Amino acid sequence: MCGIVGYTGKNQATPILIDGLERLEYRGYDSSGIAVSNDSGIEIIKSKGRLFELKKLTNGTKPEGVTGIGHTRWATHGGPSDENSHPHYSRDKKFAVVHNGIIENYLELREFLSERGFTFRSETDTEIVSMLLEYYYGGDMLDAIIKLRNKIKGSYALGILHDGEGGAFYALRKDSPLVIGLGEGENFIASDIPAILPYTRKFIIPDEKEVAVITPEKVTVYNRNKETVEKKITVSDLSADAAEKDGFAHFMLKEIFEQPGAIKKTVHDRITPDGIKLDGVKLNGNDIRKIYMVACGSAYHAGAVGKYFIEKLARLEVETDLASEFRYRNPLLGSDCLTVIISQSGETADSLAALREAKRRGSRVLAVVNVVDSSIAREADDVLYTRAGPEIAVATTKGYTTQVAVLYLLGLKLAHDRGTVSADEYSSLLSELKRVPEKLGAFIDEINPQAQYLAGKYYPAQDAYFIGRGADWSAALEGALKLKEISYIHAEAYAAGELKHGTISLIEKNSLVLGIAAEPALREKTLSNIKEVRSRGAAVIGVTDSPDSIKAECDDMITLPQTHPALTPLFTAAALQLFAYYVAAARGGDIDKPRNLAKSVTVE
Ligand code: F6R
Repeated sequence: MCGIVGYTGKNQATPILIDGLERLEYRGYDSSGIAVSNDSGIEIIKSKGRLFELKKLTNGTKPEGVTGIGHTRWATHGGPSDENSHPHYSRDKKFAVVHNGIIENYLELREFLSERGFTFRSETDTEIVSMLLEYYYGGDMLDAIIKLRNKIKGSYALGILHDGEGGAFYALRKDSPLVIGLGEGENFIASDIPAILPYTRKFIIPDEKEVAVITPEKVTVYNRNKETVEKKITVSDLSADAAEKDGFAHFMLKEIFEQPGAIKKTVHDRITPDGIKLDGVKLNGNDIRKIYMVACGSAYHAGAVGKYFIEKLARLEVETDLASEFRYRNPLLGSDCLTVIISQSGETADSLAALREAKRRGSRVLAVVNVVDSSIAREADDVLYTRAGPEIAVATTKGYTTQVAVLYLLGLKLAHDRGTVSADEYSSLLSELKRVPEKLGAFIDEINPQAQYLAGKYYPAQDAYFIGRGADWSAALEGALKLKEISYIHAEAYAAGELKHGTISLIEKNSLVLGIAAEPALREKTLSNIKEVRSRGAAVIGVTDSPDSIKAECDDMITLPQTHPALTPLFTAAALQLFAYYVAAARGGDIDKPRNLAKSVTVE
């Protein structure tokens, strides 16, 4: 959700900024821009449209100068246009600002500034930041930034350039991600680590409301009281090519194929001869009365798989909640509850707010997060990392399945604590979970051509319905989201038994239905629902590990491998991801950067 980058050092800033923006484009891609300071002042080049529009304007080299900031945008205030693109100048063009987040009181501040003679070029909330800096600047940049910080409300990661500062630029953050990269005679900022991995592996992460002064030689961080603070330096172990496509047509396809390895990293060393070890997280299922799984989008769907698994196995009440609802609905939480916040990015604004709300109400918070040291990981009481590696495609794949894998581990641990699982079932689930990476790898290879074939047949569909019961319904939720977000086909997931209470009226000749019937105890029931839609003309793709039991009622089949029934959602997910991917490819969609979306939703 908007990407920002900054550089100061001995090299030309423009190529480094553009390279960083290329790696951040998944965060927003409706416009982009850079500001570079040099002897003639601050020069800004910016443009509506994809990054290649900016690249054409800069020719990869202009403006010249060794200090600069850059931005790739996902519009919030004001549509995509040249004027609304960042960076934004102050009135006197002595300041330039890039911003990720939302300044919530910007209307009030716009009025404040208008009354003092300022006029605005854009419709954005960000422009008030550069204007306020001009207004507050009295010779000391740090003072001006602190006054700005005291005035603005909302979320922000800001990169600030001030004319005449030699190689210095500034950064400030609250509720939006920002890392500072430390190089040799050069330093960087970025919205996330992979953007600047080719240049450095050493990073520091400013805390909320801290201000950083960045020069080529050093980075100085000031806390809320204007005192300098020592920051912990972390060394990233991500590989510099983690953000490359490796010969795949799209990041999404690469990431689908990376799932077996990602799940292996996530589960293997947590399953030991002495049982499940959750990275030192001390949890006892007997001390928990209720679990809330709170997340957004696909992470919420992972929570839904976790709910079925944990309730069934550990006999513990689990409620799944959308973070955007949970944070405002006065949830009934206490110290006997465990709130599990699930988030790939660890920066999703609603999930972060839900975490804070849960803590405020006395609940212990466990984060299931992919991005190391992200805000959610840092603020939770405990964290279990999903170890999926960087996920670049906007539509999550390995982020989602590794979340499900962690929730399986959690459920097994809680069930073991509570004595609700037999020794046989416990060890059979553990050994089957360990075998998932190998089986999933073979399954993805095998189902890939079948998914292409099915996509070739069904890609003109206008609507698709994903139905299933129990954990298959949770898998249906994720399958429908994958298809709709990248192919733009209207897709709905329905609990199979619920369809006839209204939505079945939409089924007509050739409506596409994906009937997921993997859960053995519910297969017959789902089969009845498949018959109901088929008799109304729907074309049905059956998804099951037991094809003989349903194929007579289906037009096509996706056959899942044999595994423990509780683990089938991982295999269903991979098959439906591939189906969505190839449908989107057949329809000519921009698969890694679907319209209107951005990864890491850091606004409400
Ligand atoms: C869909 C997708 C989104 C995210 C959601 C939460 O493919 O990627 O629905 O799952 O925005 O994001 P995180 O997990 O980063 O909190």
